Amino acid sequence: MGVALELDVLNAPDEDLVALKEKVYQHKIVVLKEQNLSPAEFVTFGRRLGEVETYYQPMYHHPEHKEIFVSSNVRESGQQIGVPQTGKFWHHDYSFMARPFGLTLIYPQVVPRENRGTYFIDMGKAYRKLPREMKNAIAGTRSRNSVRRYFKIRPDDVYRPITEVLAEIEEQTPAVTHPTVFPHPVTGEPLLYISEAFTYELQQADGTPLPDGLLRELLAAVGQSDPTFQHENIHLQTFDKGDLLVWDNRSLVHCARHTVKPEPTVSHRVTVHDAYEFYAGIGAQQTADGR
Ligand SMILES: [Fe+2]
Repeated sequence: MGVALELDVLNAPDEDLVALKEKVYQHKIVVLKEQNLSPAEFVTFGRRLGEVETYYQPMYHHPEHKEIFVSSNVRESGQQIGVPQTGKFWHHDYSFMARPFGLTLIYPQVVPRENRGTYFIDMGKAYRKLPREMKNAIAGTRSRNSVRRYFKIRPDDVYRPITEVLAEIEEQTPAVTHPTVFPHPVTGEPLLYISEAFTYELQQADGTPLPDGLLRELLAAVGQSDPTFQHENIHLQTFDKGDLLVWDNRSLVHCARHTVKPEPTVSHRVTVHDAYEFYAGIGAQQTADGR
């Protein structure tokens, strides 16, 4: 999984950006080497790839460029910029939303010396390797996804009753339904679209819940329940300063690397809707569900 590429992301002709996206769909991760972009230029690059999605919660925003999601444990002039300790759980970005985006771009700003990198599982490959009985058990089913288990309490939530915070989560980000498996709109590869973080239930097409055990078995089979990160499906993608990662957010689940003693780490993220529906009929799926 993953290829490295040199590309002048701001000046390359449009055809090169189309070719870049093809590489992302094919290899799942492309590492663009030796990039030297300002935050504004990083957003410009994102816009060249498609429609940039701004994260729904302002506390993650870069102070000057709200399109950039900041993950940081470094305080600047006594101020917390962005949010520390993000994404330490297996997930697809935005799968708790009705319309997730196809591409995630990560541009590390302060790279830790140890414990660098992000874990990935290719859920297309993981699906292919599932036993036939499991594939049969989930054929034609759908999943329910919610952010509620990993919603981060915000500074302004201190002293609020937890019931009020929970009600706000359900109001702003009601659970959404997605197919358990869908074909990638470009490659046609079947992708298992479930995650340990956000998927809380599998259902038959008519809404009847499937037994909890099946979801747990699937997550274990693909490697998302392995606390040691030694499962054969897990890939550790490392990076150096200057690397800009572009990955296929339909195919891959990822998990921030756990550190024993956290080192300074700052990362900027831009997320992009490409020209394809996330999966065929995505709008109809949510409408049919009354959402
Ligand atoms: Fe993420």
